Amino acid sequence: MKVVTHIQELTELIKQHQKKQHSIGFVPTMGFLHEGHLTLAKEARGQNDILVMSIFVNPLQFGPNEDFEAYPRDMKRDQRLAEEAGVDILFTPNVKEMYQGEPSITMTVQKRTDVLCGKKRPGHFDGVVTVLTKLFHLVAPTNVYFGLKDAQQVAVIDAMIKDFFFDLHLVSVPTVREEDGLAKSSRNVYLSETERQEAPALYRALKKGQTAVEKGERDPQRIYQLVEEELLQTSGEIDYIEIYSYPELDQLQQLSGKVIIAIAVKFSRARLIDNVIFHVPESGEKHV
Ligand code: PAF
Repeated sequence: MKVVTHIQELTELIKQHQKKQHSIGFVPTMGFLHEGHLTLAKEARGQNDILVMSIFVNPLQFGPNEDFEAYPRDMKRDQRLAEEAGVDILFTPNVKEMYQGEPSITMTVQKRTDVLCGKKRPGHFDGVVTVLTKLFHLVAPTNVYFGLKDAQQVAVIDAMIKDFFFDLHLVSVPTVREEDGLAKSSRNVYLSETERQEAPALYRALKKGQTAVEKGERDPQRIYQLVEEELLQTSGEIDYIEIYSYPELDQLQQLSGKVIIAIAVKFSRARLIDNVIFHVPESGEKHV
């Protein structure tokens, strides 16, 4: 594995692979790698000739109340995990390398951001698309990999790729779950023993909503109630339950097409998010 900190070295390596017509899989991260990242890397490893991973804690996507400096970092461990995951090029630039002076142009996301977690993080996705635009230009990936646990981020990146004609394929990888259904997350360690026992209720609630839709329920309000009923069994505080078209994240009067049910629940020391995304069968179409 080559660890590269400078843009010039990265682009020279990328050019060599392009000459050989290698397909390039890319997993952008902010480091402190966990099972979610490694799942993306595994998927990418199997589908491309070479695998590039970036580790860059992007200051632009942190809000005024979010601590950029306090974001966890462990480069030594990350390098070992990346190597074990079969990464060929690990790009680890510093802030000066990625943001060379005051920007002349800024990017602002217009849609898909004022819902779910995005509504409380103004400017966050502007930072995400800015850094990804830079990274996509540098890495020139064939395929880029993102986890559907953060379905809103995937929706925004989908819009960015389409709006700006990025010549790459977005691969959205399903959420990895514990045996009891709880979505894997580095935050799960902050759950107390009782909360950990309650936490599978999140996925149960989502599946209850999905099953009701598959059985013919089309009223978002009714689905909301079913999900809420299940979540109220836990000691957590419901932050949101939201239902939209996916990936547009538009409100729906009547459920149809591809939809997302997404939730966030605050426990004493951890705020958990989860979602299900599925196709709503046409009326009369049988779900199998
Ligand atoms: O999901 C993340 O870790 C970040 O938002 C990303 C996509 C690496 C951009 O900084």
